[in-house]
Amino acid sequence: MYSIALSAVALLAMVLPTTLAQTHTDCNPLNTTGCPDMVALGGNATFNFNETWNPDLWVKKNQGKAEWTNNGTAFTVQYRKDAPYIASSFYLFFGRVEIFMRAAPGQGIISSAILQSEDLDEIDWEFKGGNTTHVATNYYGKGNNKTVEGKPPRGIDYPMKSAPQEDFHNYTVDWTKERIQWWLNGQMLRELKYAEAEGGKEFPQTPMNIRIGAWAGGDTENNLPDTVKWAGGETNFDDGPYTMMVQTVYAQDYTSAKTYSWENMDSSGSFEKVKVVALAEGEKSDAMVEISKPHGARNRWNALSKGVQIGIIGGVVGFVVIATLLIAFCCIKQRRAGRKEYAAYQAEVNKEAADLLEHKSNWQNPRQSRYARI
Ligand SMILES: *[C@@H]1O[C@H](CO)[C@@H](O)[C@H](O)[C@H]1NC(C)=O
Ligand SMILES: *[C@@H]1O[C@H](CO)[C@@H](O)[C@H](O)[C@H]1NC(C)=O
Ligand SMILES: *[C@@H]1O[C@H](CO)[C@@H](O)[C@H](O)[C@H]1NC(C)=O
Ligand SMILES: *[C@@H]1O[C@H](CO)[C@@H](O)[C@H](O)[C@H]1NC(C)=O
Ligand SMILES: *[C@@H]1O[C@H](CO)[C@@H](O)[C@H](O)[C@H]1NC(C)=O
Ligand SMILES: *[C@@H]1O[C@H](CO)[C@@H](O)[C@H](O)[C@H]1NC(C)=O
Ligand SMILES: *[C@@H]1O[C@H](CO)[C@@H](O)[C@H](O)[C@H]1NC(C)=O
Repeated sequence: MYSIALSAVALLAMVLPTTLAQTHTDCNPLNTTGCPDMVALGGNATFNFNETWNPDLWVKKNQGKAEWTNNGTAFTVQYRKDAPYIASSFYLFFGRVEIFMRAAPGQGIISSAILQSEDLDEIDWEFKGGNTTHVATNYYGKGNNKTVEGKPPRGIDYPMKSAPQEDFHNYTVDWTKERIQWWLNGQMLRELKYAEAEGGKEFPQTPMNIRIGAWAGGDTENNLPDTVKWAGGETNFDDGPYTMMVQTVYAQDYTSAKTYSWENMDSSGSFEKVKVVALAEGEKSDAMVEISKPHGARNRWNALSKGVQIGIIGGVVGFVVIATLLIAFCCIKQRRAGRKEYAAYQAEVNKEAADLLEHKSNWQNPRQSRYARI
């Protein structure tokens, strides 16, 4: 059953337009029972995306490249339908996320750094590649995108001192059950209070993971005209590739937990219906245990002490020296053996030549030949 459901989800993901690619859920707990538990971050961590990321903590999704470089992880939109992003495998139940990044340039190219839950609560930073002066903030509760008359809008754009596509900036979301704050380079841009979101009904309040990536809202072949217009116009893929760069992410879970469960959830989507599975005394969450393990060859190497590094270098050098000596020894031996074999071969050839000569002379003197009688 489960695998059938999974492949159906995979199939659905394939046919979903790219607009929805970053904002969909595999199991909506508001109308589905048995949605899987979520791994809690249950602590805080800084992720240096200028080093290899751990695929157990950050899952790469969709077509398109997400590669690490010395400057950060590069999310590249080069071809139509490229929409590379990474999603954290861990969730925060209220928390703080700081992202140090540079948005992708290019008309119609959207860079986004969002928090999202499985029931489609969402807190967004969004950047339009063609807009070098503003950054967009946004939020959704339970996937509801209707604008309510007379209420503060969901999406608000803010001016930037320098282009988000030119420089790295620090974009921070601080999220509690009372309010959401968006901070830019240490300055608060926006605060949304619980009650301001339809009396709290539309306030993001369920465990969210982090999703970071870029896509082409201006891909006219794969988006509706309204989406292309919203994205700032048609993307010219010949002028690409367009790259978003993420250097570091700091994440802090305001709840100390092992997992979050949907077991008690109903259609309200209320934070009070989220079950927090507590950690035992002194226990760390699986995510924090994984984070404390060094990952990737370079990181593993860096995590070793100088003494161990020197030991390993010594070992490698020693191995190379011994291997070289062994090869040299074998070659000499082989050449000696070769010489012996060659001498034996030559002797054989000489003998055959002598025999042949003898036969020849026998043929030429048939009468003397023992073959002549045949
Ligand atoms: C649950 O709600 C979502 C969003 O409204 C909808 O797309 C989905 O089909 C619903 N699922 C079930 C099992 O009712
Ligand atoms: C992050 O977690 C460590 C323990 O792992 C703690 O000492 C530190 O105070 C935390 N930092 C913040 C900002 O909460
Ligand atoms: C990555 O960035 C961190 C923090 O800026 C820095 O300490 C580290 O040396 C960088 N690593 C590489 C491989 O550049
Ligand atoms: C990293 O940044 C430096 C300085 O801005 C730049 O010269 C270099 O080309 C960048 N490398 C990559 C892989 O983007
Ligand atoms: C950038 O966004 C701001 C705010 O939405 C808007 O006023 C401005 O016209 C946009 N600039 C371009 C070039 O689209
Ligand atoms: C609002 O959400 C509905 C249902 O998910 C979707 O069909 C529609 O395109 C969305 N509208 C906007 C303006 O995003
Ligand atoms: C990002 O800004 C927050 C304040 O919003 C600050 O606490 C943090 O140190 C900044 N991080 C970086 C990498 O500059």
